[in-house]
Amino acid sequence: MKAETLPQASPAAPAAHHGHPHESAHLHVSGEATYVDDIRELAGTVHAALGLSTQAHARITALGLDAVRAMPGVIAVFTAADIPGSNDCGPIIHDDPILADGLVQYVGQPIFAVVAESHELARCAARRAEVAYEPLPAVLDPLQAKQQHSFVLPPMQLVRGDPAACLAAAPHRLAGRWQVGGQEQFYLEGQISYAVPREDGCIHLWCSTQHPTEMQQVVGHALGLAANQVVVEMRRMGGGFGGKESQSALFACVAALAASRLRRPVKLRPDRDDDMMITGKRHDFHYDYDVGFDDDGRILAARIEMTARAGFSADLSGPVATRAICHFDNAYYLSDVDIRALCARTNTQSNTAFRGFGGPQGAIAIEYIIDSIARELGRDPLDVRKLNFYGGEGRDLTPYGQRVEDNVIHELVAELEAGSAYRERRRGIAAFNAASPVLKKGLALTPLKFGISFNVAHYNQAGALVHVYTDGSVLVNHGGTEMGQGLNTKVCQVVANELGIPLAQVRATAADTSKVANTSATAASTGADLNGKAAEDAARRIRLRLAEFAAGTYGGGSIGADAVRFTNGQVEIGETVQPFAELVIRAYEARVQLWSEGFYATPRLSWDLSTLTGRPFYYFAYGAAVSEVLVDTLTGEWRLLRADLLHDAGNSINPAIDIGQVEGAFIQGMGWLTMEELWWNKDGRLMTHAPSTYKIPAAHDCPAEFHTRLFRNHSHEDTILRSKAVGEPPLLLPFSVLLAIRDAIAAAGDGRTNPPLRAPATPEAILDAVEAVRAACGEGSRP
Ligand code: MTE
Ligand code: MOS
Repeated sequence: MKAETLPQASPAAPAAHHGHPHESAHLHVSGEATYVDDIRELAGTVHAALGLSTQAHARITALGLDAVRAMPGVIAVFTAADIPGSNDCGPIIHDDPILADGLVQYVGQPIFAVVAESHELARCAARRAEVAYEPLPAVLDPLQAKQQHSFVLPPMQLVRGDPAACLAAAPHRLAGRWQVGGQEQFYLEGQISYAVPREDGCIHLWCSTQHPTEMQQVVGHALGLAANQVVVEMRRMGGGFGGKESQSALFACVAALAASRLRRPVKLRPDRDDDMMITGKRHDFHYDYDVGFDDDGRILAARIEMTARAGFSADLSGPVATRAICHFDNAYYLSDVDIRALCARTNTQSNTAFRGFGGPQGAIAIEYIIDSIARELGRDPLDVRKLNFYGGEGRDLTPYGQRVEDNVIHELVAELEAGSAYRERRRGIAAFNAASPVLKKGLALTPLKFGISFNVAHYNQAGALVHVYTDGSVLVNHGGTEMGQGLNTKVCQVVANELGIPLAQVRATAADTSKVANTSATAASTGADLNGKAAEDAARRIRLRLAEFAAGTYGGGSIGADAVRFTNGQVEIGETVQPFAELVIRAYEARVQLWSEGFYATPRLSWDLSTLTGRPFYYFAYGAAVSEVLVDTLTGEWRLLRADLLHDAGNSINPAIDIGQVEGAFIQGMGWLTMEELWWNKDGRLMTHAPSTYKIPAAHDCPAEFHTRLFRNHSHEDTILRSKAVGEPPLLLPFSVLLAIRDAIAAAGDGRTNPPLRAPATPEAILDAVEAVRAACGEGSRP
């Protein structure tokens, strides 16, 4: 692996393809960055809190709120009956009540909102409600929901070829069940909305959301307002991770409802426990699989049924299931497949987007299967993976019919295999394990291929607005939202690059529905791809006007506009050089328009939802990781000793930010697969609703040896500055951690027995798998 040094960012450094610091880094570290709760409160601001259901499924027979109203400082209490418009904040299907109306469908569902003089008083008052319930049967397990045919959406199925016949004819078969848990987004800044009534019934809403336009719409529907009466503003989130795509809606609606009814500014900031009790998470997935393969491990046919815990309503489960189906192939050519996805209705939080959006849940299934095939055949899993990679004659068509045109997985994996000394370490680990009865080491290399674009074609559009002021400074507004991922930094880099000016001259504003309209969620990793292109378009229009003006004014009739160069803050018109700011003021005096809108729509996309075929993705991102772990087979504890990551971000706009995204996604995905465990009790109450009971990885969990590199590549397609989206794909890299743990557990047996290791691989899960392996190998349960 070639060491890639991070370019030092100096003010004079080229704007694009350099590791400039995050545009708010100095504000993040000093605590000056303004989040919604930091906005200085307007006079008269009051605070809302939510009253939550204590039942998983029940009819409300009496809602006693007098004690709530009687509490000191309480100003008002609102229920579903107070909502003038529609009591719904569902993003696609309208089955998401803002406040429960007679029926509760999970423990934690908001039933009413209380508004009080302070945050504390509102929270205390909310606890005083006396709610009488008539319990209804609750379904808490997605597999039970499946048995009862209880789904939030019709089942989805994608079949190619003749999987049944190919399975029957295959020399080897492997069938089984498996499961992967869900995951709490655990954004550091929780959900929050601050709504302010404005003149003529209008509402201004500051909301921590990935989807300002949708917040504008749901608030409008709930209050019976037109879109032009609602402005949503979002400067930055302290993390979203998919959890603020649709899930911010309930809080936005309640804050706006209270603000419009009371004609006072209202802030709603649930505390962490309430946030975790109310909001949806990553879907846990349950798999039933059956694969056929040849003597070398080449997959001949695969059948899989994935059952996802949707929760009580549809939310984004449809698109999540679709993405899971479209990522079951991961980096592998599967000729004959039958892929099914079921969205099971359970009386739990309504699950939603989380980094990867079902893609990780789809792809990890095939990785687990290939790992199992390899052990079954006594081959190194890496060899079986390579055998199944896309590539070669007639092996480039995905099950959904898109051709893989930009495949770099062979080169990428070869580079990582050599750079991480995979084979040597494999031998070293075998020697270690032979001499170590209790501590076992494991190693795994897993690849990824991740499709970039929203599966729904019309979401793949974006707008931007660029203002060049007469002092040469530039302000850019675009349809995306900043959640820490560096989107604003990249968009500023794109604009600076286009205008040939230093990055320091460009500033990004808050996302604002009154500036760029009809935006898509900042999601599916498309933020920089879409908004970067839109901002480039806007900046280019200004540059072309300036070039024409410059050629006409300074070119002496001999220089065309296309020969004018914008570079290093200067504009070159033949022999004449003008500072950018100087040219700008001259252009202003000549009445040249110095601001522009820009627009982008991703080309070449098509998707047929009825057949689940088409070209849903503009291109693919690739990557691979090698992880080495040490497992204590007596306690189930483990450590990640070393990780080597190689990821394809195309021609990265900002390698420093992209490496941060890759490492962050790796650790976050490792948390999902190994330590973060959501646990509901028999009454359907989520017991893991705070950091005291829900363990996310910390700095201490990073491996001592952590090598992260970007793969040298150029996007095959005309993406923004030939870069590739990087927000979600690297969440698939830590598959290697889970499978390295499984490899170590296998070494506790005969090495050929497949450990039944569920995810998250908590110490309990690891011990269960160790015992199963030892029992299967006839070695008893302890060494
Ligand atoms: N990085 C940080 N620091 N915080 C976040 O909330 N969200 C992730 C990813 N990286 C997230 C993040 C998710 S779920 C997505 S879809 C992308 O960022 C969204 O941003 P992008 O499209 O601009 O990459
Ligand atoms: Mo990301 S899960 O698409 O917000």
